[in-house]
Amino acid sequence: MIIHGKNIVLKTVEVYDAEFIFTMRKNQDRTKYLSQITGTVESQKEWISNYKQREKDKKEFYFLIESKGKEKLGLVRIYDFQEDSFSWGSWLIKEDAPKTTAIESALQIYEFGFYKLGFEKSHFDVRKENDKVIAFHKRFGAKVVNESELDYFFTFEKSDYEITKEKYKRYL
Ligand SMILES: CC(C)(COP(=O)(O)OP(=O)(O)OC[C@H]1O[C@@H](n2cnc3c(N)ncnc32)[C@H](O)[C@@H]1OP(=O)(O)O)[C@@H](O)C(=O)NCCC(=O)NCCS
Repeated sequence: MIIHGKNIVLKTVEVYDAEFIFTMRKNQDRTKYLSQITGTVESQKEWISNYKQREKDKKEFYFLIESKGKEKLGLVRIYDFQEDSFSWGSWLIKEDAPKTTAIESALQIYEFGFYKLGFEKSHFDVRKENDKVIAFHKRFGAKVVNESELDYFFTFEKSDYEITKEKYKRYL
């Protein structure tokens, strides 16, 4: 499946993307707030092939973020579909990606979750130390509704997204 954004394209990952995903997730500095992946490129391939079944069942979508010129820029995943809410995460963008990649990919995820999948809200957690990402979500209009020792738990309502969408329409 392909989602066409303004400057980016989101493509569901394939087994042949294992090497890219593996390399991205092995970047220790960048992934300290993401769960650590174990194993090798081979085990990543196996993970993707299991994921492809969940994708068929419409339980989860894992996207490669690419530029329109087909340069690989990052990754983002939408999952944990509950009655009226979806989660998203595994969000990882190359340091040298164009500046608008983060905003554009977040907008495309919300467009997909709210309008294509029909959810009313989104829920996700962010490590408390991940200041930059916490600031990103707050600026977008998401609200902290709970916390644990490690994480802040956010929700973002579709009605609030509609306001954000208007504000960021130049990125859509
Ligand atoms: C999370 C991640 C994908 C976000 O991408 P990013 O490019 O770092 O995002 P930024 O917050 O720097 O936003 C990109 C640019 O858009 C700007 N921006 C972000 N939100 C904005 C907003 N609401 N309005 C205006 N500008 C905004 C930022 O200021 C930044 O520009 P700058 O570099 O001039 O300051 C990236 O930091 C990453 O891969 N992190 C490691 C993994 C991780 O922690 N993932 C999240 C786990 S929950």
